Amino acid sequence: MKLLEASGIAHHFDYPLFSGVDLSIDSHESVAIIGVSGSGKSTLLHILSTLLTPDSGEVTLMGESMEGLSNRGLVELRRKQLGIIFQSHYLFKGFTGAENLEVASILSNEPVEPELLRALKIEHVVNQKVTELSGGQQQRLSVARVLTKKPRLIYADEPTGNLDLETACEVMDLFDSYIAKHDAGLLLVTHELQLADRCQRVYKLEEHQLVRVK
Ligand SMILES: Nc1ncnc2c1ncn2[C@@H]1O[C@H](COP(=O)(O)OP(=O)(O)OP(=O)(O)O)[C@@H](O)[C@H]1O
Ligand SMILES: [Mg+2]
Repeated sequence: MKLLEASGIAHHFDYPLFSGVDLSIDSHESVAIIGVSGSGKSTLLHILSTLLTPDSGEVTLMGESMEGLSNRGLVELRRKQLGIIFQSHYLFKGFTGAENLEVASILSNEPVEPELLRALKIEHVVNQKVTELSGGQQQRLSVARVLTKKPRLIYADEPTGNLDLETACEVMDLFDSYIAKHDAGLLLVTHELQLADRCQRVYKLEEHQLVRVK
């Protein structure tokens, strides 16, 4: 099933970022986007995940065009089908790790799976306050929080930026098994070429275009 289909996407802020961007993601597919800092990767991810309306172009998710979808429809879609892991993870700072997971669990009516916490090696720290966790532990907690919702499409913006390569590879293993098990898809933004290369397709944002490099 086609999870994402985007065509002719263009956007600018103070200067043009990109135009003519076409991209599609099927279930069981992982796609990476690389590109230098400031090339617009996060902006594109925000557009493809409904958080930002592009200057032009169309985004279709789960077969439904985002153009003309009501606000309520958008909120439902984001809550139930999309899992967005932000570059700066927005965890609730006054809460413990477990309480952060609980929020995702309540909102999605899905249980917090102990094996997910074990796979991410955070089961021993989930009862600590978020502010007491290391940067890498917070990052893995935000991965756990998003996967707890059981999204169909995962958007991950530098989800392993604070992790050593070995742990980053384990997070990629987890994404791989998640998308296989849940008919899901992954859009990964990363600077780490070795991680990008683990995806089935790799694109580079350069000179205002999204160019396929693998
Ligand atoms: N809300 C905004 N208002 C104005 N300019 C913005 C906004 N968001 C991003 N930009 C600008 O758009 C450009 C692309 O930003 P973006 O965050 O998409 O880059 P990126 O490729 O993700 O970079 P990085 O690898 O550093 O995360 C930057 O020059 C940035 O300053
Ligand atoms: Mg970015």
